[in-house]
Order: sequence, then C-alpha cells, then structure tokens
Amino acid sequence: MDLLSVQINDFLHYVGVNDRDTGLFENLWPLTNGVSYNSYLITAEKTALLDTVKISKLSDFKSKLQAALQGRDLDYLVIHHMEPDHSGAISTIMDLYPNVQLVGNKRTIGFLNDFYGITENIIEVKDKDSLDLGDRSLEFYTTPMVHWPESMVSYEPKSKILFSQDAFGGFGALDGTIFDDEINMDFYSSEIRRYFSNIVGKFSKPIQSALKKLSGLEISMVCPVHGPVWRKNPEKIIELYDKWSKHEVKDGVVVVYASMYGNTQKMAEIVARELAEQGIKNIKVFDVSKTHESYILNEIWEYKGLILGSCTYNNYMFPMMTQLVNVLEMNNLQNHILGVFGSFSWSGGAVKALKEFGEKGKYDLLSTVVETKCSATDEDIQGLQELAKEMAEKLKGE
Ligand code: FEO
Repeated sequence: MDLLSVQINDFLHYVGVNDRDTGLFENLWPLTNGVSYNSYLITAEKTALLDTVKISKLSDFKSKLQAALQGRDLDYLVIHHMEPDHSGAISTIMDLYPNVQLVGNKRTIGFLNDFYGITENIIEVKDKDSLDLGDRSLEFYTTPMVHWPESMVSYEPKSKILFSQDAFGGFGALDGTIFDDEINMDFYSSEIRRYFSNIVGKFSKPIQSALKKLSGLEISMVCPVHGPVWRKNPEKIIELYDKWSKHEVKDGVVVVYASMYGNTQKMAEIVARELAEQGIKNIKVFDVSKTHESYILNEIWEYKGLILGSCTYNNYMFPMMTQLVNVLEMNNLQNHILGVFGSFSWSGGAVKALKEFGEKGKYDLLSTVVETKCSATDEDIQGLQELAKEMAEKLKGE
C-alpha cells in the first residue's frame, strides 16, 4: 500500500516520513517518541524536491513523492543539509529521475563526492543566490554550522515560506498531525527543546548568526526537516530557538546524582529538600544511571541551577557522571550556577573532578562543596543544606 503526500498549498506538498524504528538518533540520543524526516516537493512550472530522508525510510518516501509528482519529472533536488538523515536517498532520487539537477553550495558539493561519489548534474549556489522555478523561486541563505558547515536554508519569496533544514526542528514522529495548529504542543514542546539541546544547542552562536541573517525576511511558514510544520505561529518556534540559543534560563535547579549503594542519593535528597525549604519551586532530581543524558541535558538547558553529586569510582567520578559531564562540556553551557558534592569510601576523586569541571567551564561555581566519607555525618548534612541555601540565595539574588 502506498502512502500519500500531504498538500500544504497549491504548489507545496509534504512528502516527509516518520521513523518509529530507530532507537537512537545519531546512534546516541533516544528516540522514545520517534522522529520525522521532513521533505517537501514544490510543483511550480518546474518541480523541486527539498531534501530527502534517511535511507531506511526510502520505500515510504518514494511512494509519497511519486503521489505528489503525479507523473511529472523532477527538475531539481535542493540539498540544504548533507547529514545522512536527509541526504540518504539522494542517489536513489538520481536513479529514479535521471534529469534531476542537484542544488547545493560549495561545501555541499564536497560532501556529495565524499559521501556518495556524486560529481555530476550539480548546480552550485552561493549565499543569496536564487533558483528560478517559473512562477516560484527559491532564495538561498547559507547558515554554516546550523547544523553542519554546508547547512543552508531557502526562502520562497512570493509565499514567504522558509525551508529551514535542521533549524527549528524537533524530535517526535508526526502522529497524523503535521502542522502546528493540528498538534497538542504540550507534548511536542519538550521534544522540540530536547532536539535543540541534544543536536543543535552546541551551535548556539551560529544559530544567533543565522537568526540575524534571516531577520529581514517576512516569514509566513517555517518548514523544518524534523518535527511540525509551523504555518499558524511560525514566530513561536523562531522565538524559542532565539531564547534557547541565547542561553536564557528559568529559575529552578536540576540535581543529578550518581550513586552505587544509595549514600550519594541520600545526599541529593537532602539537597533537594533544602532547596524546597528555601522556596525553590522547580526542582528536578535525576539518577544519572537511570535517566539518559539526553533528557537531563534538556532540563539543564531550561533551568539556571545545576547541582552534580557523584560517588567515587576508581579514584574518579562515576562513569555515567563522567559521560554527562562530557556532554555538558561539549555544549559550552552558559548562565548556570553550579554546585557539587560527592562521596568516597577509602580515597577521593569524584568531588575533585567535579570541581575541576566547574572551574574549567563558564559556571558560577558555589563555594560550598561537600565530600562525604561512606555515609553523610550530621556535619555533612549541614554542609549539604548550606550548599542548597547558597544556590537558592544566588537564584533569588539574580
Ligand atoms: Fe537532521 Fe543535522 O541532520
């Protein structure tokens, strides 16, 4: 049975697909709710396909594309981004439509050869070049490092539609609903922020540059390559990406602990309770061995306070905490207050490593640090309460 495309307007069709099979995006980030690989077809005087999909979803993609084309040939394939979740079907499209011209920038052309050995039927475009499609056209804007160096977006000036590739995307398969006005955003808002924080948040500075470059465009619709199509409220997703990439954070504290036998967990519980006593409303506590760093990073991106506690494991942080810390370092987090605590049984290491992590990053590091031998003493408990108070005072003071 063939899947049908979705008509967006008189010249634009959604031919994207859902992926509910892949467990980990980039073989790293959990796809608990799946993901969509969005692709769009313009049927103007010329036809243009905007991006393809991951190769594993080729069958669904082909049937949607063929349905939308209604027997017409494909004139252009515009490649906004070469990560294989979007470029995977390029070779197949070239086989199916031998007259197709690929459209990309200089960096795209390099990747086409490096990934797929494709060197012919390519039109090179530069920043602010246009592609004439007859009664429609596309203007190109390069957006390097959102998400890769070749990344670019395109804009259809008559309809004011922005095709934004990874920018403004989100996790979560599209469950029948595709447009922002069809979707319960309570569910998607967390998945969109998780996609941002996991995949493109590291590139916040390039995102700010891209937003500046695009700020002069009037935008009626945002068509990203993952997640909902924003036709009712495109300014909403642009505002969110602006806020997140500026590292704007809310009051609240994420407490993350690593514990083997529960002693460090108890320390985290004491800290969390004291934060509540101090009037902090948004407190999220995670066991780093239970919750994947994808979800923890998502919450850390939202809240200003961060408290990390780890037991010592072979003279260092617990391995799962090391993994989280690596992810935090990779993401150049800013505007966060950081507190650390930990435990050891016969020789320390975890607290020293957490402190070094805090000193290396752009954190406002709390002066109170608690290190417990085996199980927290009354003095340690007081120290943990002090740590929570210092965090609360800083949050209230700012
Ligand atoms: Fe959705 Fe950077 O690829």
